[in-house]
Amino acid sequence: MDTPVSRITINRLHPLFVAEVTGIDLSVPVSREDFRVIWDAFNEHQILVFRDQHFTDETQIAFGRNFGELETMIAHPGNDWNPGHISVMTNLGKDGNFLPLDHPAMVHRTRNEEWHSDSSFKPVAALASMLAAHIVPPVGGNTDFASGRAAYEDLPAERKAALENLTALHRMTYRDMASDTGYNDEDKKRHIVTHPVIRTNPVNGRKALYVGSHAQEIVGMPPEEGAKLLDELTAFVTQPKYFYSHPWRDGDAVMWDNRCTLHRATTFDKTKYKRKLHRTTIAGKAPDTAFGVMPQK
Ligand SMILES: [Fe+2]
Repeated sequence: MDTPVSRITINRLHPLFVAEVTGIDLSVPVSREDFRVIWDAFNEHQILVFRDQHFTDETQIAFGRNFGELETMIAHPGNDWNPGHISVMTNLGKDGNFLPLDHPAMVHRTRNEEWHSDSSFKPVAALASMLAAHIVPPVGGNTDFASGRAAYEDLPAERKAALENLTALHRMTYRDMASDTGYNDEDKKRHIVTHPVIRTNPVNGRKALYVGSHAQEIVGMPPEEGAKLLDELTAFVTQPKYFYSHPWRDGDAVMWDNRCTLHRATTFDKTKYKRKLHRTTIAGKAPDTAFGVMPQK
């Protein structure tokens, strides 16, 4: 019997990371052979852009489960207080009309315009996230990505050694907590966790800088000094050579590895153009080495 051959094609969209994946319909169950191709590409390219997908929430969740358990979002303004596996990133209300710019959900979503890694404020941070496009604006509203792996690999050896054993403190809220009306005082106290500044992908051993806006202090350093170092590292990761901006097309579904990339939303004319993307988030595992092999269903 012939070995099944995948018809998936993979093309790099950036010299250092990000690949476009075509030739597969993710709205139907994915074979183990095809998932092997996707899993390997995910670990290698860090960000996968799937074209011409037509997900429902159910099929998007089913595809995500190939990678493992999905996170359940707590109710907060960003998901219109609807907890579940799907977060809707949109400037539209339930009636399909534009939300006013001062609506709590709109104010909350502007926080996604800071560089971050999803759920880095949780004790076990997210493995991956996927955004599936339902409505895309004709101009603007890109999602920007930066590779903490490519940036790490360019650091001088002595800098890598100096960072190797540092641990950062992550908070759910951003540093400017006084203006953060989307969370109550209990939320602000919860979700203060620590993660290493350098993370290693157990599949290929590649290391990455793990920073972003939720990372706010370095354990064992004065707070201002740690914050300054983390700001410097985030600026290093997000410089143009490690940066990819994704302009959304109809049918796009983009999946990223939260262990080694940062991302941010970008703005668009939110009173003129409609935008609606549905997000699923795949939970991580502790320790990271639990992902040393392809997940089993
Ligand atoms: Fe995010």
